[in-house]
Amino acid sequence: MFDKLASQPTDPLLALIGLYNADGRPDKIDLGVGVYRDDRGRTPVMEAVKSAETLLLETQESKSYVAPEGDRIFLDLLWDLVGGTGTGKFAAGVQTPGGSGALRLAAELIARAGTGRLHLGLPSWPNHAGIFGATGLTVETHPYFDVATQDVRFSSMMKALSSAQRGDAVLIHASCHNPTGATLTAAQWEELATTIAERRLIPLIDSAYQGFGSGIEEDVLGLRRVIAAAPEALVAVSCSKSFGIYRERTGAIFAVAETQSAADTARTNLVTMARTSYSMPPDHGAAVVRTILSFDSLRQTWADELNSMRYRLNELRRELATALSDSWQLAPQIAEQQGMFSLLPLTEADVLSMRTQHGIYMPTSGRINIAGLKKTDVARVASILKPLLG
Ligand code: LMR
Repeated sequence: MFDKLASQPTDPLLALIGLYNADGRPDKIDLGVGVYRDDRGRTPVMEAVKSAETLLLETQESKSYVAPEGDRIFLDLLWDLVGGTGTGKFAAGVQTPGGSGALRLAAELIARAGTGRLHLGLPSWPNHAGIFGATGLTVETHPYFDVATQDVRFSSMMKALSSAQRGDAVLIHASCHNPTGATLTAAQWEELATTIAERRLIPLIDSAYQGFGSGIEEDVLGLRRVIAAAPEALVAVSCSKSFGIYRERTGAIFAVAETQSAADTARTNLVTMARTSYSMPPDHGAAVVRTILSFDSLRQTWADELNSMRYRLNELRRELATALSDSWQLAPQIAEQQGMFSLLPLTEADVLSMRTQHGIYMPTSGRINIAGLKKTDVARVASILKPLLG
């Protein structure tokens, strides 16, 4: 049987990890996969996570199954953090293996119950189209961002959504857009929310970078505005970045509706889909997040750590923008954009030559992970980028 299969390429973004590790040059720089790094290039376990793990090690009495939907206390605490209490809507959540697991369940639910059509603004995280396509959804694309001008193509996006059909789903990045870092203004969120509600579209909101943009609360205000306006919504949450627990695969999908019973019905479907796929989610990361969010002191430690990650990112953004500003007039946009990523107008050949000649790694799209820069790298990276951008 296996000889009938064609070998598949490694995901290009994840392949960068291996390529970077195999490069022996001491001055190599990893601007590839979206992982936070400190100024020494490490992705340390957060202090709040270490403390929660210590507590769990001392107090956990069983490794038996938790529940089909995962840890209910984790789900309630996570929903408070993301959805808050003021949207006037009811949510029902299912714990998932990471944000990707949440997106996959959401896509299967849309395929089962909706029009089977999802609108996706481009560019987007490359795996979005992969996940949605794998469930049989028809993915309709529209422009979201113009790389050449570094602007959100808001009117093109609104035009596409204004002609979407009732019941169509639309993918929305909650904050820190991946791969562009380009965030909507409050007025644009308002207009988006109104159009979604008027057209009776189903927003599928991907929240993976809460705390990396403007602040832990600030980064979910747009999301909450859309939830408040739309009759129904799906919210996919990843804990990978905000809690730095990437490999623990921790996330959740929330069905949001006008009544608790509608949300609960959606949840029973999500649980059934999970059961026939991987049965139940892994527990450890969710137990860590539950512990952090349950204790005020741990929660404060976590918030302080996340805030300082954001400050570091924003400082690097400003420094890179300044270093590029004498040869690229759009450089100030790098400082305005939010989260880990910016998308530079580089060709594939530019990206490959930076890799081979200078040991600087990024995906061929031209996306850079700002967190991969050390302060001492900024001048060198800027000098290599200048002739390519100017
Ligand atoms: C990224 O975009 O680099 C991250 O979300 C990691 C991933 O899984 O692709």
